[in-house]
Amino acid sequence: MDILKTKSQMREWSKNKKTESKTICFVPTMGYLHQGHVSLLEKGKPLCDELVISIFVNPTQFGPNEDLDDYPSNIEKDLDLAQKAGVTAVFLPDKKNIYPENFQTEVKLQYLPGFLCGKSRPIHFAGVATIVTKLFNIVMPDIAVFGQKDYQQLQIIRQLVKDLDFNIKILEGNIIREKNGLAMSSRNAYLSKIQRKSALCLSKSLDLARKLIAGGEKNPVTIKKKIETFIEAFPETIIEYVSLCNPENLEDIDRIEDKILVALAVKIGRTRLIDNALINPAQ
Ligand code: PAF
Repeated sequence: MDILKTKSQMREWSKNKKTESKTICFVPTMGYLHQGHVSLLEKGKPLCDELVISIFVNPTQFGPNEDLDDYPSNIEKDLDLAQKAGVTAVFLPDKKNIYPENFQTEVKLQYLPGFLCGKSRPIHFAGVATIVTKLFNIVMPDIAVFGQKDYQQLQIIRQLVKDLDFNIKILEGNIIREKNGLAMSSRNAYLSKIQRKSALCLSKSLDLARKLIAGGEKNPVTIKKKIETFIEAFPETIIEYVSLCNPENLEDIDRIEDKILVALAVKIGRTRLIDNALINPAQ
């Protein structure tokens, strides 16, 4: 497994692979890898000759009062997991290499960032779109895999690839959950034992939505209210949003007829967690 610490090393590596007609699959991450990341690597592994992961905590996607300085990190463990998952190259740049002095450009989508997480994290998706564009240009993958847990991010990346004519196939990886239903996230590391119990309110809310929809409930407002009441009963929870929306454009829906996205963001203590599910009333 090669470890490449600069943009030029990474680009050179990819160019060489391309000269050898090798295909590249790419999984961008911010490190502190867990089974969710590993599942993305496992999804990509059989599809290409080379499997590349990037580990970079991107400062431009964090707001001023967010957890950039506390973001968990364990590079040794990450490298071990990456190796075991069959990664052939790790891109491990530092901040200066990615954002040199006088860096000025931002990639900003006009519409999709205005919903869900974008409402409370106004600069987040411009940061994500900018770093992902840069990583795509540096790594030059044929395929890139993103997790469905960050559903809005996934939609934004799909749109970005279309709008900017990247010749990259975007694949999605399922949400990987702990046995109790908690969606895996690097941020789960912040939770105390009691907060971990409260954090189950997210996946359980999705179960509640599934149950209500299966029972014939068509009114999204009714479901939203029931979910909010349900979450409020768990200690240390502050709801940021509960949204029942169109899975393509993320707009709120008036009535549940077709497949919908139920998406949530809830603070458990100081830790902001997200989760979502696509629910089809016909199933
Ligand atoms: O999903 C993440 O970990 C990050 O948002 C990403 C895509 C690696 C960009 O920094």
